[in-house]
Amino acid sequence: MRSGRTLSFVPDVNAVSKIAISTGGGDAPGLNAVIRSATVAARNRGWEVVGIRDGFNGIMYPDEYPGGGLMELDRQAVRGISHLGGTILGSTNRGNPTAYPVQLDDGTWTEVDRTAELVQRFSDEGIDALITVGGDGSLRIGNHLHHRGLRVIGVPKTIDNDLDKTTATFGFDTAVDFAAECIDRLFTTATSHGRVMVVEVMGRDAGWIALHAGMAGGAHCILIPEIPYELGPVAETILQRDRNGARFTVIVVAEGAKPVGGEATVLGKAIGQAVQLGGVGAKVAAEIAELTGKETRTVVLGHLLRGGSPTALDRLLGLRFGAAAVRAIEEGQDGIMVGLQPPEVVYVPLEEAVREIKVVPLDGDTMKTARDLGINFGDQMPGQLLGH
Ligand code: F6P
Repeated sequence: MRSGRTLSFVPDVNAVSKIAISTGGGDAPGLNAVIRSATVAARNRGWEVVGIRDGFNGIMYPDEYPGGGLMELDRQAVRGISHLGGTILGSTNRGNPTAYPVQLDDGTWTEVDRTAELVQRFSDEGIDALITVGGDGSLRIGNHLHHRGLRVIGVPKTIDNDLDKTTATFGFDTAVDFAAECIDRLFTTATSHGRVMVVEVMGRDAGWIALHAGMAGGAHCILIPEIPYELGPVAETILQRDRNGARFTVIVVAEGAKPVGGEATVLGKAIGQAVQLGGVGAKVAAEIAELTGKETRTVVLGHLLRGGSPTALDRLLGLRFGAAAVRAIEEGQDGIMVGLQPPEVVYVPLEEAVREIKVVPLDGDTMKTARDLGINFGDQMPGQLLGH
């Protein structure tokens, strides 16, 4: 001790003894890597770790779970899970606590804010901080909880790659890799039969999966939510290819793609959930068959893109995010999201991260490359070089 220094008791505001991890929204390969990494990093600091089952349901309704809605996470619980798809905690995109659906006596539904109850439950359980792993919906809830006094660190997750303030979300690489492999396979059968194959992929508000998988797979047309499409240019691309001797065409469509002046194709909507998209592939295929007279088939990759083992890249990203979230808690951070801004994982205020989603930049080099390759986006006749 240096002489002359006065010692006084300074309470450690960052003292943490117990943290919780939750996974919410649609699952994505790499979630288990986050859970493992955060658990091991926290345990190494001597903290207790619990996993909340099914988003926040496990802590809100513990009695509905045999053995309770919280799962003790220790080294044993997270051993050998990084390579597994899904989430060992379970997930849900129902029952948003900030807008919880409640049925009234007259049968109609209303939404109530149950955040105060939820924050109280964390306090009852002696939880000092929450790591919430989720997409825009779950991170918005996390931001809300943070403003209500809960210490929250967000981890970005979605196969759609549409979260802002991070250049990548885990799950995206796995989805793109699988979609590209499927497109490869469709090429051979499309060639044999001289058909048009329409492949529908996920991508509610952003066309990242369609663009990246379509380009990697060599698709001839790609329809994405960012560019309202017309099918005239797509049909002309197909007919031009026929005239050039290539009798087949592969078209990749994001589920959120919409025609000029039209809306995305909606399958339905359940109470307390976002609208379910789907069916645009079949719609495009039918219209293309009409316009070109060609035999057309549709494949919907849908939830297959969310399954399977994460690629090494997604595992590593999940591991990096999980440990960074624990370091953030240790450093006294609150109300932030960990995000990738290469080469580092950085902290971004949750407020900023959820302000808007990240769509495909139409003037970015990937789009320019696609245009240079002659890929048609349904917004220009083949042969025209738009934006150059
Ligand atoms: O994670 C986002 C997403 O993959 C969207 O592209 C898709 O619309 C949505 O999930 C479907 O989720 P679910 O069928 O689980 O409601």
